[in-house]
Amino acid sequence: MRGPFHLDKELLPIVRTIGEEAAGRSAPAYLVGGIVRDLMLGIRNLDLDIVFEGDAVSLARTLASKLNASLVVHEKFGTATMNLENGLRVDLVTARKETYPHPGALPVVSRGNIRDDLFRRDLTVNAMALAIDPKGLLTLVDEFGGREDLRRKRIRILHELSFQDDPTRILRAVRFEQRFGFRIEAKTLRLLKAALSNRLEERVKPERYFHEFHKMLREPKPWKNIQRLKELNGCGFLGKGVRISAAELGLLRSGQQSVFFYRRAVPHDEIEPALVELMALLYRTREGELDRFIKKFNLSKPHQVCLRQMRRWDMVRRSLSRKAVDPSDVYRALVEFRTETLLFFRAQKSGGLVRRRLDEFLTKLRFVQLSVDGEDLKRLGIEGSQRMGKILDSLLDMKIDGRLATREDELNMAGRLAKEIGPSR
Ligand code: CTP
Repeated sequence: MRGPFHLDKELLPIVRTIGEEAAGRSAPAYLVGGIVRDLMLGIRNLDLDIVFEGDAVSLARTLASKLNASLVVHEKFGTATMNLENGLRVDLVTARKETYPHPGALPVVSRGNIRDDLFRRDLTVNAMALAIDPKGLLTLVDEFGGREDLRRKRIRILHELSFQDDPTRILRAVRFEQRFGFRIEAKTLRLLKAALSNRLEERVKPERYFHEFHKMLREPKPWKNIQRLKELNGCGFLGKGVRISAAELGLLRSGQQSVFFYRRAVPHDEIEPALVELMALLYRTREGELDRFIKKFNLSKPHQVCLRQMRRWDMVRRSLSRKAVDPSDVYRALVEFRTETLLFFRAQKSGGLVRRRLDEFLTKLRFVQLSVDGEDLKRLGIEGSQRMGKILDSLLDMKIDGRLATREDELNMAGRLAKEIGPSR
C-alpha cells in the first residue's frame, strides 16, 4: 500500500491550485472517495472528487476561471463540476451531513465538516480523505480505519445502520470486495445478510438499485460479482422469474470473452459490455416476466432493444447454420441487430460455422461500403427513392459477395439493374 501520496503528474497543478484557493478562503479542501483508495492501492485514477468545508460553488467559480475550465453548477445541491481542457473532470461539493428519515429514503442533507462528510459514506475504504495544503501536499484523514482495512483487505461498513440508511451499499460491498479480491468482514457480512433477508433493497427505488447492479456488470469480472451476490441470496430483487444458475454465469463469462474478442478486432467501435452481460443473465426469462423487468427498472432504450433482440437467437442460429449461405445472406440476417446483441449471440454455444459467420459479419461484412451513392445513380438517369434503394441494396449484396471489385463495376452493374428492374412508376 502506498504513502506518501503520489498524484498523477497531470493532476498535480490542479490540486495545487485547489489547495491555494481554499487556503485563501481559510477553509480546507479535501480529495475524497475512490481516488484516495486507489492512490493507496497504487491504482491509476483520474477522478478528482473534492470536498470543501466552505462554499464549494463559489470556490469552483474561481477555480474554473483560473484553470480555464467550463463549469456546471447545481446551486441547489451545492455542487459543481469543472471540465478541463485536457478532458479531466473535477467534482466539488460542500462538506455535508446526511440523516436518513427512514431506510431507503433519500437523505436529509445539511452542512457539515469533513468528518460528517466521510461518515455518510458506504465503506471504510471509500471513506478516507486527503487534506490538500497550498503547496498541493496531501495529508491523510482516516477517521474510520480505512487504511487498516485496505491493508487487511477488508470490506467494512462504518456503522450498524449503514445498510438500512442506504441498501444500495449491499451491492457496493460485494462490488468492491470482488474488484479488489478483498473479503467482507464478519460483522458487515452478518448485517448484509440480515439486510437481504429483511428485503431492505425493496425500499429503494428500483431504478436506483438497478443502477448500482449495472455497475457490477461493468466491473472487470462481472460473473464473480453475480456469483457472490447469488451466494449471499442477493439476486432476489431481479424478480421471481429470473433464475441465475451456472448456465447464466457461464454465458456471462463467454459474453465477456466475446467483448474481448470484439475490442481487439474492432478497437475503434464503442460498445456497452454491460448490455451483453444483462442479456446473458436474462436469456431464459419468460417474455411476460421480461416485460415486467423492463418496466420495474425503467430500463433505457438500448437495454429494451437488446432484451427484445436476444429472443431471436434461435432463428438467427438456424439461418446461419444452413450450408449454402452467401456472405450477403449473413449480412441480411444480422444487419438489424445491435453490436451488443451480436456479441451475445456469439457467446451462445453454437457450431463452428455459425460462430465463423458471426465473426465475419462483426469484423468485416458490416463495414463493407459501396463506392457509389444515390447521386451517382441519378447521374445515370435512375430515379425514384424506392428504385434507388433497391438497386443500392442489390449492389451492396453483390459487393459483399465479392462480385464487384471497382467503382466502375458498381456503375456498370447499376445500369444493368436499372434496366432489369424497369422504370419507376
Ligand atoms: N458513495 C457512497 N455511497 C453510495 C455511493 C457513493 O458512500 N451509495 C461514496 C463513496 O465514498 C465513493 C464515492 O461516493 O467512494 C464515489 O462513488 P462512486 O463514483 O460510485 O464510486 P468510486 O468509489 O469512485 O468507485 P469507482 O472506482 O467504481 O468509480
